[in-house]
Amino acid sequence: MPYIRKAMMKDAKDIHSIIKESTKDAMVLPRSLSSVYSHLRDFFVAEADDGKVVGCCALSITWDCLAEVRSLVVIPTQRGTNLGGQMVEACVAEARELGVCEVFVLTNIEDFFSKQGFVATDKNILPQKVWADCINCPLFPDCDEIPMVMKL
Ligand SMILES: CC(C)(COP(=O)(O)OP(=O)(O)OC[C@H]1O[C@@H](n2cnc3c(N)ncnc32)[C@H](O)[C@@H]1OP(=O)(O)O)[C@@H](O)C(=O)NCCC(=O)NCCS
Repeated sequence: MPYIRKAMMKDAKDIHSIIKESTKDAMVLPRSLSSVYSHLRDFFVAEADDGKVVGCCALSITWDCLAEVRSLVVIPTQRGTNLGGQMVEACVAEARELGVCEVFVLTNIEDFFSKQGFVATDKNILPQKVWADCINCPLFPDCDEIPMVMKL
């Protein structure tokens, strides 16, 4: 069974390629290899028995007391075995350890994140800084993602 652990240097290229593959058909924002390296400490990965990285998820600190779950992907052949849920749980547990008060996600899979304990919220509740970042997103302004939060 794959298990969840913090990302290590050797995982950066796999993380980059999993995210790149997923951007083709899912609402996952592209990330450069450089961005993966500079945020490597944000990432958890799911490692399969053969050592292959089959999923990733990052916790990114955004602002005072606030962090974002982002870059969540499980490769198609490993979906439906709770790896996505476990990686989100790992991010939330790390957020608690760090003293984060609220974790948010911008997503179009509300049902998945509801099951993880997130609730849909109003865009205006999140600080301006979150939306300022959207200007640099390739999906801006035609984005159907909704903000969801979990209070810790
Ligand atoms: C979203 C994703 C990470 C889920 O990973 P996963 O390991 O298959 O999910 P899990 O097995 O942990 O699912 C947990 C629960 O969420 C549900 N779920 C999984 N994917 C879902 C989806 N896309 N939409 C709605 N519910 C979903 C599962 O049915 C399961 O419910 P259950 O506990 O009642 O059985 C995976 O489908 C994926 O990589 N998708 C493409 C990338 C993407 O959309 N990322 C999220 C961007 S915000």
